Amino acid sequence: MADPSDVFDAAVAALDTQLLRRRRRVVAPLAGATLQADGRPLLAFAGNDYLGLAQHPALVEAAQRGAARYGVGATASPVICGHGPAHAALEDELARFVGLPRALYFYAGYAANSGALPALVERGDALISDALNHACLIDGARLSRADITVYAHNDMAALERALIATQGARRRLVVADAVFSMDGDLAPLPDMLALCERHDAWLYVDDAHGFGVLGQGGRGSLSHWGFTPGAMPPRLIYMATLGKAAGVAGAFVAGVPSLVEWLMHKARTYFFATGAPPMIAEALRASLLLIEREDWRRERLQALRLRLRAGLAGLPWPAPATPSAIQPLMLGDSASALALMDALEMQGIWVPAIRPPTVAEGTARLRISLSALHSLADVDRLVAALTATIAAAGTNTAPPRI
Ligand SMILES: Cc1ncc(COP(=O)(O)O)c(C=O)c1O
Repeated sequence: MADPSDVFDAAVAALDTQLLRRRRRVVAPLAGATLQADGRPLLAFAGNDYLGLAQHPALVEAAQRGAARYGVGATASPVICGHGPAHAALEDELARFVGLPRALYFYAGYAANSGALPALVERGDALISDALNHACLIDGARLSRADITVYAHNDMAALERALIATQGARRRLVVADAVFSMDGDLAPLPDMLALCERHDAWLYVDDAHGFGVLGQGGRGSLSHWGFTPGAMPPRLIYMATLGKAAGVAGAFVAGVPSLVEWLMHKARTYFFATGAPPMIAEALRASLLLIEREDWRRERLQALRLRLRAGLAGLPWPAPATPSAIQPLMLGDSASALALMDALEMQGIWVPAIRPPTVAEGTARLRISLSALHSLADVDRLVAALTATIAAAGTNTAPPRI
């Protein structure tokens, strides 16, 4: 009889042949933007700690105080007894910070999206989704059982066609990343909101990569596009994650009070899951204060971005014109992306290769992510390593096969 695990052996072997096998490294922070990966120090452009807060002593101390005061576990769903003073204060502070009436804090961004979307639309409704949306928006859309229309990335004419074509639906929800996670470009939120108003639809935006980085005081994409606290569009549902620029974990969904109350009851990932540890909520409260006060972190990010852009000017991969911290180098096939990642690693630099299924077939890339922990000299070192790699490959035409 065949060994039952044969089927998985074959499946994993197929990942190997397609160059899609991932190998996790054991990673620990060292100084600045340097990580120890499998025992080796590497200058990393890999994580999403855009503001450099994940190791900040004020956050660590707040978590320690939270643990001493409340223990380490929430013990139950927030709707039973897992919602404490730290969570309540955090939700109020998040809502105030982004200028929306009420916020609901989830233990993870994945949980927020995969729980909120099925609570907002169902069979008979229409969900209209950008082609480059994050996996957990896609999963939430599928779980909702609404009719899904995917429009071409950031194509407003295609979005309007989808809105016209779904006029008969009971409710319509347009869903998009505010800053696209693997491309770093921005969704044109004012245009999208205008279309939603015109066609009586709701707009759900996932600002995982804009919160903390963009907008006045790091308030995120809404602020970046000029939406102000007193004048938020009523059809807007705002979601942001807190494990990236905020440096901790979790996410929140914010909007008008009745909508948030509804989510509290109907988002199954909220209702049926143990709340996040209160110490995490305390660390986030400390993080919010720093996000708001320390503009220098965002200024540093912009200086790094401009330096990278200037450095890449002579290389085969133009830097994308985006104010976000995500700066991908488009390579195309997985083999090229992996080869460039390996070549950089030999020079002590870690920029992850992003391959399918994270991105579409034929669009493998190196995802450079900048952090306030980087110095201009770090960016120069990256540019020098890219330049040296191309010189060694004897080509300066894109995309290089190294
Ligand atoms: C756009 C976007 N939304 C949601 C998530 C999921 O958030 P979390 O990591 O907190 O589960 C991610 C990535 O992690 C993301 O890039």
